[in-house]
Amino acid sequence: MNKPLRIALTKGRLEKDTIGLFEKIGYDCTAVKEKGRKLILPITDGNIEVVLAKANDVITYVEHGVCDIGVVGKDTIMEMKGKFFELADLGFGKCKFALATKKGEKFYGGYDIKTIATKYPNVARNHFEAKGMDIEIVKIEGSVELAPLLELSDGIVDIVETGTTLKENGLEVIEDIAPISARLIVNMVSMKLRQKEIEALVKLVEDNI
Ligand code: PRP
Repeated sequence: MNKPLRIALTKGRLEKDTIGLFEKIGYDCTAVKEKGRKLILPITDGNIEVVLAKANDVITYVEHGVCDIGVVGKDTIMEMKGKFFELADLGFGKCKFALATKKGEKFYGGYDIKTIATKYPNVARNHFEAKGMDIEIVKIEGSVELAPLLELSDGIVDIVETGTTLKENGLEVIEDIAPISARLIVNMVSMKLRQKEIEALVKLVEDNI
């Protein structure tokens, strides 16, 4: 038997849905579900090894070829770019990138340079550059909603899922930027060397989403 295909899986929000998908395919995911503190888990009946990692690291591991496949959000892909194939939209982990401000505040128009707080500086820069707008970007690591409330920024570019965080903090979406969902990515060399196995797995995934 070939060595297992190594799949980097984003820990947290996408983890449960990805395991759900693997179970729907028919794989025994007991080891992954009962992982404890272990980070590399086998799915022996699929000849797969699951590596649990943070979203940015999923991309790093797949780009470097130490994992053949990755499951990661389009948000991270848009922010990090990188060289890999994006083969399937898994349909879960749905949310969106949006521009939000304090409720009722005017953002567009006027001549002053606006400040945007975000965890996704590249996504924000690309969005406003495409409009030919000069923007100052402040990188924030968590709860970016705080920035406009503290008057650090005029708006935020962030992920919106249910909209509850914005609502509870007196903010509102003024523009949708891009839809987000979980994607299956594949290392470029793995795609050549293990094409048959990867295509078979992608087919199984596509048949079960
Ligand atoms: C994300 C995002 C928002 C929140 C939106 O943060 O940055 O704060 O979810 O979700 P909602 O529209 O359903 O309220 P996350 O919970 O992923 O935490 P993080 O700050 O660790 O990224």
